[in-house]
Amino acid sequence: MAERVRDLVRPDLRDLIPYAVPHYPGYIKLDANENPYDFSSEVLIRIFQKVGGQTFTRYPDPMAADLRRALAGYTGLAPGNILAGNGSDELILTLLLTFGSGGGVIITPPTFSMYKIHARIAGAVTVEVPRLKDFAPDVPAIIRAARAADVKLVILCSPNNPTGNVVSRDGVEALLSETAGLVLLDEAYAEFAGESCADLVPRYPRLVVLRTFSKAFGLAGLRVGYLLSDETVISELLKVKQPFNLNAFSQLAALTVLEHLPVFEERIQRIIAGRRELYHRLKEIPGVEVFPSRANFLLFRTPLPAVSVYEGLLKHRVLIRNVEGPGLERCLRVNVGTPEENETFVKALVDVVS
Ligand SMILES: Cc1ncc(COP(=O)(O)O)c(C=O)c1O
Repeated sequence: MAERVRDLVRPDLRDLIPYAVPHYPGYIKLDANENPYDFSSEVLIRIFQKVGGQTFTRYPDPMAADLRRALAGYTGLAPGNILAGNGSDELILTLLLTFGSGGGVIITPPTFSMYKIHARIAGAVTVEVPRLKDFAPDVPAIIRAARAADVKLVILCSPNNPTGNVVSRDGVEALLSETAGLVLLDEAYAEFAGESCADLVPRYPRLVVLRTFSKAFGLAGLRVGYLLSDETVISELLKVKQPFNLNAFSQLAALTVLEHLPVFEERIQRIIAGRRELYHRLKEIPGVEVFPSRANFLLFRTPLPAVSVYEGLLKHRVLIRNVEGPGLERCLRVNVGTPEENETFVKALVDVVS
């Protein structure tokens, strides 16, 4: 029976390994770049006050109009330039299904692993243009690759997960000027970098900027993402998007977050201060090389195989991410936690590497 089912699967998906998420209840969790601070109780109360009698009985607004209006205020763009999704992951897949299937998609490893997985699910051909030694994207090489292949989409991440560096504005504009496809700029961590290319959207109709409520706004569990692009791109995406992709509760929660921005801004500043502190602590550990980051996580290299460090930290009940791979030899990624979590992590790491 299992054999029969396997035969029925699309041949190009037979060897795909399902995305695995480690589950260690009670451990210090610094592996998924989530917001370490409890969600504000003041904002939570406000969300529940707003939940009305019809919130759950009716289908949600397919266009998330109220949320998009609020996002227009937050991003400085028009509601028509915004599409909300069930996490930004869903929007990456929607974009690839709409534009990528059967064509080429450029990614710049080391980068966020879901681009390659979603490209494969969408039946697109992934073209890899590795980043330079300092992890900056190799813009001239991307332009050459985009011209050589039937490339529909270039995906860049800024700040890049897991390396933490931002792509220059000039680089984004050069890509848009010198290639003919869409450019997806994933700004999941933009609030921690303090800079964004969202304002380029009105000037470049092939630019798509992707954002999320999962990181700076602490809503990872409610799955809210959005993209910013030209109305023509959005009208094509609507052909593929599930009509009721973003549930009513999440729409309401994200809207309420935008009505309380100072609460979240204060947490973002605490995380940025924590990043600075953690960077210096890691730098002091003999044999550890830590890379500068504009996101809410840090990439570091150790003298030991990454798997030994990962497992050693698990013995201290600390969970981080092993990102070992080409260009990231002996590297791990840790997200900035609360000061107490950071302290426990640093002490555990000193113990593991010494
Ligand atoms: C670069 C990047 N893009 C997108 C996502 C997905 O975020 P969401 O929770 O909005 O699906 C992540 C999550 O870690 C990420 O690191």
